[in-house]
Amino acid sequence: MGYRVAVVGATGAVGREMLQTLAERNFPVDKMHALASSRSAGREVSFGEDEVLTVTALDKFDFGEADIALFSAGGATAKEVAPRAGEAGCLVIDNSSAFRMDEDVPLIVPEVNADSVDSALRGNGGRNIIANPNCSTAQLVVALKPLHESFGVRRVVVSTYQAVSGAGKPAMDELFNQTRGIYVNDPVRPENFTKQIAFNAIPHIDVFLDDGFTKEEWKMTAETKKILDPAIELVAHCVRIPVFIGHSEAVFIETDKPMTESGVRELLRESPGISVIDHRADEGYVTPHEAAGEDAVFISRIRKDPTVENGMVFWCVSDNLRKGAALNSVQIAELVAERGLSGR
Ligand code: A2P
Repeated sequence: MGYRVAVVGATGAVGREMLQTLAERNFPVDKMHALASSRSAGREVSFGEDEVLTVTALDKFDFGEADIALFSAGGATAKEVAPRAGEAGCLVIDNSSAFRMDEDVPLIVPEVNADSVDSALRGNGGRNIIANPNCSTAQLVVALKPLHESFGVRRVVVSTYQAVSGAGKPAMDELFNQTRGIYVNDPVRPENFTKQIAFNAIPHIDVFLDDGFTKEEWKMTAETKKILDPAIELVAHCVRIPVFIGHSEAVFIETDKPMTESGVRELLRESPGISVIDHRADEGYVTPHEAAGEDAVFISRIRKDPTVENGMVFWCVSDNLRKGAALNSVQIAELVAERGLSGR
């Protein structure tokens, strides 16, 4: 059986990647709808190698015509449209932060908590809405899950180095144009970022909260607790860097049980969604440039933290548009299909 699928935000950085990923992974599609704002109605977007779709305006679309909708059109649009789509019997997989912390909306990373997906259905107390986590959280919990199961992760300290594509296509254009402009002495005028992003690093993603953390940092803590275990303590520091695609994270964990470097390396090597590339030599680690276009969460630089009793440090890199957004959404759609779930 095939599904009638809608991609909401099909002209954006993540929406395009969703279409590409659905095609690449041969998701069973009977009919594909590409939706965006009325500004983009009539434009064309690719679906796989051969198919071209004409964009329909979201406000003209009847969600009775779709079984599954993958949303990546921002929180405000999701808040307004997703509940309506769910009520029409369409299962929504939303990439924004609008519903992530709602109790009646499961927040899913398939390698970690696939079984929570059933609770999205209205018959099971849900709203036909499933949330996709923040890009930095998604790759982190894929790495933490096997470590937590084997050693009991007690505390995590994480510093992120995040690509501009996490802020959407206009942000990617800003990095490109600003970089080019600096060579010809054009004045720098930040638009999507608070400061110059070219040749810089900005320790500020999303808004500031009262306690001095940013919302991005808070999301990493709150979402990890919801997806993996509320008992895990996590403190994050998030930085935007001038990389187009691929988020990197320096991760420091403390566990209940002792770990060895080789034990951690073997465990992660065998765990779903993870590729370990860890040689203590030139090029023996992965950078965001190599992770772009790949599905895996790459782990490198595994080493013991000598400053605490049971501590380990590692470097975690993944394509933020894929595992952090489009791929994870498509994997959730695959879960829905495997389990034969329907919003109707
Ligand atoms: P559009 O291109 O028509 O503005 P990105 O995060 O890369 O900026 O992409 C955002 C996506 O969400 C785009 O496809 C954009 O469409 C879509 N979008 C933004 N606002 C709306 C809206 N109010 N209704 C429908 N789609 C929207």
